Amino acid sequence: MPKKILIISGSPKKDGNTTALIEWFQEGIITKGGIPDIVYAAFLKYKFPGCTSCRACQKSEKYECVIDDDARSVLLKMAKADIIVMATPLYFFGPSAQLKIIMDRMFSLYKWDNAAGTMKTPLQGKTLILLASAFEGEGLDALEKPFTLIARYTGMSFDSLIIANAGVSGDIRNKDGVKEKIVALGKRIL
Ligand SMILES: Cc1cc2nc3c(=O)[nH]c(=O)nc-3n(C[C@H](O)[C@H](O)[C@H](O)COP(=O)(O)O)c2cc1C
Repeated sequence: MPKKILIISGSPKKDGNTTALIEWFQEGIITKGGIPDIVYAAFLKYKFPGCTSCRACQKSEKYECVIDDDARSVLLKMAKADIIVMATPLYFFGPSAQLKIIMDRMFSLYKWDNAAGTMKTPLQGKTLILLASAFEGEGLDALEKPFTLIARYTGMSFDSLIIANAGVSGDIRNKDGVKEKIVALGKRIL
């Protein structure tokens, strides 16, 4: 069975650095028989600008957000994927808001039993990968931290490639050695 790879782009630029990273990562996985599915978080339609904290998902056994919009279908894809790739530009020392909306809506993929002190999630056993780029190099650890914590919390393995000094959108294509690194990660992950 080929592995299912879900790539979520958090960049509002379709021709920018994040897109280049995704393109190269795909090149790697396709050579190994992987089937990528790409979602552009910035171009999805949402009923609300983030998680509403309604907590209705916690009253159901299903790993589904009750808000029936585009984020909901991304979450369903996430639950079925083997590998989840989150690709984002560094925006003020964190992921883009476009990606963060999806990350917060992942609340519906966790089922907490506070009395028992347990949490169940279909994310357990999957792989989470962070691909990111930044204009400079400051704060890359801050960007990576929430992803490492989410991976640890949910029982996913984690890998990342963050490219510093990537310039503005599209400049990363002129940086020596980046493409090779990302293609290699795509190959290695399968
Ligand atoms: C709103 C915004 C915030 C940014 N914040 C940072 C930052 O804190 N540090 C940094 O090094 N680059 C920052 N950048 C630059 C981007 O992270 C960088 O150019 C990235 O490679 C762009 O990726 P993209 O072409 O996919 O949008 C910012 C860019 C924007 C538009």
